[in-house]
Amino acid sequence: MNIILTHEQADFDAAGSVLAAWLLDPSRIPILPKRRNRNLAAFLDDYKTRLPFFTWKTLPKGSIDRIYITDTQTVEEHSRMSGIKDIIVWDHHPQRHLFPDRAENIYETTGACTTFLVEQLMDRPDLHPGRIYTTLMLMGIYEDTGSLSYGSTTPRDIRAAAWLVEKGADLDLMRRYILQPMTDHQQQGFDILMQSMEICEIMDEKIVTAAADIREISDEFSAVAHQMRDMLNPDGLILLLAVKTGIRIICRATTDDIDFGAMMRSMNGGGHIRAASGMIPVDYMETGNINDILEDARESVLHVLPNFIRPPWMNLKEKLEAQIPEKQLKLINLIAETAERLDTPLYIVGGVVRDLLQDQPVMDFDIVVEGDATRLGKELAAIHGGKLTLHPQFFTAKWETKEGVSLDLISARSETYSAPAALPTVAMSGIEPDLHRRDFTINTLAIRLDGEHYGELLDLCGGLSDLKNELIRTLHDHSFTDDPTRLFRAVRFEQRLNFDLESDTLRQMNDQMDGINLLTGQRIWHELRLYCDEDAPERNFSRIVRLGIAEKINRALSWNENTGTDCVRFRKTTPEKYWNYQSGLDFELVETEGPLWIWLSCHSAEIIAELGKRLLMPKKTQHCIKSLALLRKYFSGMIRQAPSEITFFLESLPVEPLYCYALFCPEAEKRTLKQYITGWHQIRPKTTGADLIEMGIKPGPQMKKLLTSLRAACIDTGLEEEEETEWIQSWQTVISSRESED
Ligand code: CTP
Repeated sequence: MNIILTHEQADFDAAGSVLAAWLLDPSRIPILPKRRNRNLAAFLDDYKTRLPFFTWKTLPKGSIDRIYITDTQTVEEHSRMSGIKDIIVWDHHPQRHLFPDRAENIYETTGACTTFLVEQLMDRPDLHPGRIYTTLMLMGIYEDTGSLSYGSTTPRDIRAAAWLVEKGADLDLMRRYILQPMTDHQQQGFDILMQSMEICEIMDEKIVTAAADIREISDEFSAVAHQMRDMLNPDGLILLLAVKTGIRIICRATTDDIDFGAMMRSMNGGGHIRAASGMIPVDYMETGNINDILEDARESVLHVLPNFIRPPWMNLKEKLEAQIPEKQLKLINLIAETAERLDTPLYIVGGVVRDLLQDQPVMDFDIVVEGDATRLGKELAAIHGGKLTLHPQFFTAKWETKEGVSLDLISARSETYSAPAALPTVAMSGIEPDLHRRDFTINTLAIRLDGEHYGELLDLCGGLSDLKNELIRTLHDHSFTDDPTRLFRAVRFEQRLNFDLESDTLRQMNDQMDGINLLTGQRIWHELRLYCDEDAPERNFSRIVRLGIAEKINRALSWNENTGTDCVRFRKTTPEKYWNYQSGLDFELVETEGPLWIWLSCHSAEIIAELGKRLLMPKKTQHCIKSLALLRKYFSGMIRQAPSEITFFLESLPVEPLYCYALFCPEAEKRTLKQYITGWHQIRPKTTGADLIEMGIKPGPQMKKLLTSLRAACIDTGLEEEEETEWIQSWQTVISSRESED
């Protein structure tokens, strides 16, 4: 098998020359490297099914006999190349004698390498390469000769180009992919920019800034930025262009360590990590000298730039040691040592890293293993003892040490969603897909723990920059469709951290809100309950109403500020001691759901019933919310009624809503509740049903009524034991006289 290779970061000349070499002999297999430049990648993306290229990965099995190398003299060594002596190099760069013994080298001094391979095709009248192939080869020649304008262009390039056009190369198609030479206007702007250019170094990155007033030039300047980037080769290039509406900022980077996309998003713009643009609006009528304006813009851009430069590495070892409780830290270190021995990268991931960086206390850990977590768990248990619980179907293990500390070990995994709102299909993966499957960038940060990597921060999705800029941002634009519970999570993080919902994310939330209809009641209820664990649950409730999320649960869900005040009072009130003696009072339930009850109980009985059904609330919860609604509605009007009436009403309700209500209701009602709990509720007449039978009264509804009225008298008038018989006799007299009247 013979193969054709070219250089890394392949461009059109690389691909064009490989293609020409293949056309000359289709038994050769044309291979392109994984890394391609932007223009070529765009073309290949659009036409990949019509092109013959392979990669090392897709190359068929079998031994390689001969290697052709085009447009370079160095190719990255691959294991399948070892020992092969038969190498032929076709290049147009000066000869470097890199394969002196192994290669038959052909060097030509054409502007493009594609040219002299096309020349061989020109000798083959039987060949008709077609529109796509000829266009690709033409782009190879155009790219390396600056559209036939560079001094290095030879008549041979021009002839080869002409032949390709004759054979069908499509100039319109070519223009879509290849860089254009600058127009006169662009050239004029380019000259001004070059004169104003300044170079500085920020966090080890070479940054070139240049400014120009181009209000009189109406032309597109991204080509100028490309030109300057290619010419100056800085790590980052920032152009500040005064246009009619303000200062347009064009940024280009040659490294992924500067996130210009994120920086420009914070300046009314957007783009990719390496190419982005933004705008600082300026009212020229009101502001002064244009040079001062440009200088101010330059300063403010350079001021924020460090926030978007990824430090070459960031080690959080000290933070880990300062903020993680000692017991857990010891355990983490133990696991890290074992992981290192097994050659398994280990990370803490997600909320814990976010909280560490925010200097928040951290308690729960998600430990992610790049490999099989169950294998690591087994090894830990074998060496250190303790209890191991394996969940191989989820690739997780729970290890509880002999000392009783436990940690979850999770295998890095990718997730795919078979349908909107469905639970994801999970597969073991590397750390990268594991981070990319997550909800928001601030939750994608990871700290590596094994061996020499201990403390290294892994920030693959721009989480650090969003953390610094206080933004909640999704990783892709169907995140809320995949998992609509993220709508609730976005609000929770927004309110907890006091961050902003990034504008695209907010748009996605609006567009994808209907996903809530697909969620089961339990999943929504779980998310709403999580709000109750937050410092200010009421801010979450009011926010989901304002965003329109709540109305997707029930159209009538509403919010008013008084409810917010009730929630705040509920949180801030210390319960009086007497509640501790209420046997059976489920304090935890009130703590974990109380704020939700307060909110939902503001709605009508009909809506509460609908919510109970939609959210599949537990029966007890439904009962508590309904009871709280009754208290809210009637209790203030009742407190002047007879204590027995109040008692009988309150006794018909579970105790939890009473306790919950007591934490936020007005003082007078609170006092009445206290009287009920500590007094009236416990009052019982001494006379029992058995005593009444002895007195000759028949069991039945009448007797029940009598006992109730007797109790009411005890509560309301403080009837003593010895007065009860007399009271019963007079009650009987009244009843019998009433009966005779009837
Ligand atoms: N996650 C997600 N989508 C969800 C739920 C969770 O992507 N619907 C991911 C997030 O990356 C999150 C991690 O799973 O960081 C763990 O989830 P959880 O414990 O709920 O998040 P934390 O960020 O730890 O939240 P909290 O601080 O409230 O515990």
